[in-house]
Amino acid sequence: MKTTYFSIFVITLFGLFTNMPIASEQDGKTIKAFSSESSSEALTLEAKAIAKTFSSRLKPILKSAIQSGGFTSAVEVCSSAAPEIAKNLSLETGWSISRVSLQPRNLHSAVADPFEYEVLREFDERQLKGESAQLMHYSKIVNNEYRFMKAQGVEAICLNCHGKNISGELKQKIMTHYPDDAATGYSLGQIRGAISLTKTLDK
Ligand code: HEC
Repeated sequence: MKTTYFSIFVITLFGLFTNMPIASEQDGKTIKAFSSESSSEALTLEAKAIAKTFSSRLKPILKSAIQSGGFTSAVEVCSSAAPEIAKNLSLETGWSISRVSLQPRNLHSAVADPFEYEVLREFDERQLKGESAQLMHYSKIVNNEYRFMKAQGVEAICLNCHGKNISGELKQKIMTHYPDDAATGYSLGQIRGAISLTKTLDK
């Protein structure tokens, strides 16, 4: 009888330990030490957090610019704020950060490289098949670089500056800053582009 109770105790204890996670999500550095699979999981978590930070810094600036001066003046604000946020976040994190698109507005920063081009095309296909942009992302290790892309879907507010019917004055403003702008004509739910993150891995 005693042995049975003892066995149950040991089995329960064993179960408890084997069910324990190796490390918590926040503990990215610890996960990294375990295996290459865990290490790329940690990188994905880090990349997701950086992409989220980018959006959470830009969106309030864009919103308050629209509220205080309308869409035309918000174009001005966005044209300086967006590249600034990307630059600062790169310096803070050591990741290379940009926003890219198949129909770029900013030709200095948003033209996709071959990897980004393929992923953006795949995002379009996934969206056409019914997947929402909200959680859509892709990651891969290419040439000793960890690459991560987070899709940016078109919401109602985006249509004012990226939609089909852009008002005259606003159109003019966009053309002044971006004479070769290709970032209009979008509909709700489409993929406007992606936040693209790259980290060079240790050899
Ligand atoms: C007030 C006008 C305005 C609104 C509203 C707006 N954008 Fe933009 N968007 C711009 C401007 C201006 C740029 C170029 C910024 C730069 O120079 O980096 C841009 C660039 C981008 C880029 C980078 C790629 C590129 O083509 O240069 C993405 C991605 C993007 N916008 C997505 C969105 C999404 C998604 C929304 C809605 C949540 C949105 N935008 C709302 C004006 C706007």
